Amino acid sequence: MGERVKKLLAKMTLAEKIGQMCQVAGTGGISQGLRNAVREGKVGSVLNETDMATLNEIQRVAMEESRLGIPVIIGRDIIHGFQTMLPIPLGQAATWNPDLIRKGARMAAVEGRSAGVHWTFAPMIDVTRDPRWGRIAESPGEDPYLTSVVGAAMIEGFQGKNLSDRDSLAACAKHFAGYGYSEAGKDYAYVNISESELRNIALPPFKAAVDAGVATFMTAFSDINGVPATGHAYLNRTVLREEWGFKGFVVSDWDSVIQLITHGYSESEKEAARASVAAGVDMEMASQTYLYNLAALTEEGKISEAMIDECTANILRVKFELGLFDHPYTDPVHFPEKGNPEHLDIAEDAARESIVLLKNDYNVLPLNPDNLQNVAIIGPMADDAHEQMGTWTFDGKEAWCRTPLQAIRERLKGKANLHFAKGLSNSRSRSHEGFAEALDIAAKCETVIMFMGEEAILSGEAHCRADINLPGAQNELLAKISKLGKTTVLVIMAGRPLTIEQTGHYTNAMLYAWHPGTMGGPAIADIIFGDAPPSGKLPVTFPKHVGQIPIYYNQRMSGKPATHDSFTYIDNIPQRAPQTSVGNTSFHMDVGFEPLYPFGYGLSYTRFHYGDVRLSAHEIKADESIEIYIDLTNTGERRGAETAQLYIRDRFGSITRPVRELKGFKKIWLDPGQTETLTFTLHADDLAFYNAENKRVVEPGDFDLWVGGDSRADRHAHFKIIE
Ligand code: NOJ
Repeated sequence: MGERVKKLLAKMTLAEKIGQMCQVAGTGGISQGLRNAVREGKVGSVLNETDMATLNEIQRVAMEESRLGIPVIIGRDIIHGFQTMLPIPLGQAATWNPDLIRKGARMAAVEGRSAGVHWTFAPMIDVTRDPRWGRIAESPGEDPYLTSVVGAAMIEGFQGKNLSDRDSLAACAKHFAGYGYSEAGKDYAYVNISESELRNIALPPFKAAVDAGVATFMTAFSDINGVPATGHAYLNRTVLREEWGFKGFVVSDWDSVIQLITHGYSESEKEAARASVAAGVDMEMASQTYLYNLAALTEEGKISEAMIDECTANILRVKFELGLFDHPYTDPVHFPEKGNPEHLDIAEDAARESIVLLKNDYNVLPLNPDNLQNVAIIGPMADDAHEQMGTWTFDGKEAWCRTPLQAIRERLKGKANLHFAKGLSNSRSRSHEGFAEALDIAAKCETVIMFMGEEAILSGEAHCRADINLPGAQNELLAKISKLGKTTVLVIMAGRPLTIEQTGHYTNAMLYAWHPGTMGGPAIADIIFGDAPPSGKLPVTFPKHVGQIPIYYNQRMSGKPATHDSFTYIDNIPQRAPQTSVGNTSFHMDVGFEPLYPFGYGLSYTRFHYGDVRLSAHEIKADESIEIYIDLTNTGERRGAETAQLYIRDRFGSITRPVRELKGFKKIWLDPGQTETLTFTLHADDLAFYNAENKRVVEPGDFDLWVGGDSRADRHAHFKIIE
């Protein structure tokens, strides 16, 4: 590969090299301008063009009419499925099932590649602790370890066994880096993050992506501590290339090179181009500062030709690895009219395992179809294919979607009468016009299943919210229905954690289904009627109130941590109480210090019992590992799946350590009465962190360890790392 790249590079003019570094946006069809640019070798990549005839024609011009016949790489945002939609990435993370996530990405790659796409801008692995941020929907949540595992599984799925296979997609780890820390959960906002936080929390998933062999990286839109990511040489060169040895190429985000001017970082387009190349950004997406300025910058000696060669070589290497020189074209395919059944099955499995049971008073779930007579289905999300697909569904086939209403209708056919009313025309509606009809059917039925949440457009890029309650008049409708005293089940479909403390009081059972994708309907019906148990666990902490944000499980202790005894509720503070700082602790006096639902949380239809933790050793050296054993028993009456989670705490460090850190998990299925011994292996190196000098160290000392079903896990053991 190296030889082929070298040979080709030797033949290229400066202009042709710069051409490889330019990615242009498709405009639907091949314009004369695009045709000429490709012919002249000025286009290295095209994004957002999906008409296969157009793509093949672009490629033909590149291969046959450009001087050197270098193929164009076609990019597309295949974020959670191409035409068959998987749950949004946050939902996929809730499955805690890397094999299933890998399968989903593989399926997306097969569909995308057969439509002519070579490269997806996924996975998005920005750790985020802010549900106001719309892009939390695209992320695997708040934890660096879970995000690393999910990201790596997606990369393996997209890229397949070999990148050169004709059904592989080059993956893209994005957005490098720190984007999830956008201030106030507002997209594109400033990111103020210490290097310690960056190194210990934000960067590990990106390092894991490099280790998983990801072909490309994308920079973040963010200004990080005063240097926009697209001009950030420390991140893109020192960390990514020098420390981690990344060999693929780095693409900017859309217009993020030219935005260096808007940020107030570069004074001109020429300077923006210079800063980006100097920072190690090999390809410019959308804006064209490279095309118009790199030649002059090179001639003036402001950028060396060696730098241009390096960028070009990085891009060509990926094109060779993808096999684009040998197979530049895509054979026309016809997608099955109703979707590929195997792909739909994968989407359904993923949706089913992504659903989290948050509450189930009196075990109202699962519902037994044989015991139902009249069932009301209510809510704006019950029968809306578009909304259940979620954000980033450019190519998603609405017609292939199965909605909850359709699926429930099928299940109850011949068994119970079904009544449906939307109640609200959409999730944002404030109108009470539809309430009467909804209340009317609810009154006639003994069971009410409600589908509420957020429409797809309320999350995703640039779709941030300051108030993360259920939007519109949904809570009001729920409150009225709850007064009827029926058995109520609420299914929430949303792109983020919503503040649903009050909402939860209006219903007996609550399922969180995220935006579940094409097969959301049957997946939800399976859970509701007990054909499958709920097995999702939260990949992100659910706050009680938006004012608690950022709230996350792996926080630091504080010198005055809150306890149930030390917390004083605002209404309990006496009038004219004297001020004192003695005995005070860290909490909000109006909402406390705990989340609504902790990270890792999710109920089942059965019960699990964790035995005692046993360790293979109580002391290990920094180059050794420890085995952790625990018996897990299904003590309930139904088959179920449990995700056992392993957390550690480094008791004392040269810098303070998080109160808990997830270090492993296992999802297993157990029959009633069945016990399995789970084994986790923890290497001392897994306990390393970046210290005050930003050196990765394993510090000897005491460690706590817990195993359990969520981040409050209580089966405890202690061990030491010794010199
Ligand atoms: C902007 C988004 O930030 C990025 O994630 C996406 O891949 C590009 N646009 C291309 O659509």
